[in-house]
Amino acid sequence: MEARFAPSNGLSGRVTVPGDKSISHRAAIIGALAEGTTAVGGYSQAADCANTLEVLRALGVRIEVGDGAIRITGRGVGGFDAPVGPLPCGNSGTTMRLVAGALATSPNAAVLTGDESLNKRPMRRVIEPLTMMGVKCQASDEAGHPPLTVRGGTLEAITYAPPVASAQVKSAVLLAGLGARGVTTVREMVPTRDHTERILRLAGIQVSSAGPVVSVTPGVPSAFDLRVPGDFSSAAFFIAAALLVPGSAVTVTGVGLNPTRTEFLRLLERMGARLEVTGSEGDVAHEPSGDILAESGPLEAIDVSPDEVALSIDEVTLLALLATSARGTTTIRGARELRNKESDRISGTVAGLSAMGAKIEETPTGMVIEGPVELRGARVGSRGDHRIAMMLGVAGLAASGETIVEGWEWTQISYPGFGEALSRLRKASQ
Ligand code: S3P
Repeated sequence: MEARFAPSNGLSGRVTVPGDKSISHRAAIIGALAEGTTAVGGYSQAADCANTLEVLRALGVRIEVGDGAIRITGRGVGGFDAPVGPLPCGNSGTTMRLVAGALATSPNAAVLTGDESLNKRPMRRVIEPLTMMGVKCQASDEAGHPPLTVRGGTLEAITYAPPVASAQVKSAVLLAGLGARGVTTVREMVPTRDHTERILRLAGIQVSSAGPVVSVTPGVPSAFDLRVPGDFSSAAFFIAAALLVPGSAVTVTGVGLNPTRTEFLRLLERMGARLEVTGSEGDVAHEPSGDILAESGPLEAIDVSPDEVALSIDEVTLLALLATSARGTTTIRGARELRNKESDRISGTVAGLSAMGAKIEETPTGMVIEGPVELRGARVGSRGDHRIAMMLGVAGLAASGETIVEGWEWTQISYPGFGEALSRLRKASQ
């Protein structure tokens, strides 16, 4: 399916983004490991999060989907059923890696499999620590690709320093740590998103964090009530659109503002973006959340360092897009991880934006972008990647002529209804 975008002469209005994908996955998985019935309001409608529910159901977890909330009856740590067939994780790396950690606490063998994209993604990063803990964990090949077989049981606590900055790896190890003998510790390179830690605490588990070092004490989570805030990574597309399209002022409401997710805002401020953030700090039961107003205006080029990339990993394609309209040379370094996402996001971003006239070069670990240039409409491809599709749709609003994004259906992976939400902002102003 393709989507067509005509130039916009300004976006305006308010938009509420759907529930956070990362928090939704974790709430469902930790709810499944809990004792009692957990209620999660605002659970994401993303296809990825539906995959997590399907996988948990196949492990014997009862999940009722009601109006705006889901209820999960947990099986306790180590209490999953033996699954009948392979567990289908679809396109979702978070489902596969976090469920692998949850399965580590269960003595039954399970096989996690994905779609064509996910079955090409690296799993050694979870196989290594889980094996150290005593899990029998095997990929389908030497390179560590899924399907992934996991058979857990009696686990030993470890102290582990992942070779990549990855919240998925940290979360897999912490979840396995619930069933280990002793305190499990993860030492990260930079503190990645901490939703797992927050939900475990809400569920009564002892989790201590000191900067990039996180430890979990084993135990069985207690059921909890959680309201999922709007997804910051989805909000980022509207923020970028408002900054890019002249004459725009857009407010995104009810967005999660967890500081481990909002590095993008700090980078935009460095580019000179006009942003106003109002929000609440949050507490054990609620993550920080609030509203973000973004207005169009001139932008300056910046250098984005590897640590900053790690903290804004899902927004880097948007940084590249914004850099096409910023004055000077923007350099994005240390972003090799982008090549391991749903597609190679460095090459997909460079291909799409080059076709639209951007001055953008691919480097082994990032991109160099010269601005400002006027983008022009073109036929571009999502490469089966939801974030590439949405970024190119936003680019189409700022380009002259018509932009056609092929593979638009992939936006369902994180944001069903994104195209409609974007056009509502256009209609309000045109
Ligand atoms: C996610 C972590 C990030 C991110 C992904 C969601 C999560 O992946 O890119 O979209 O929910 O933990 P990595 O942990 O591989 O960096």
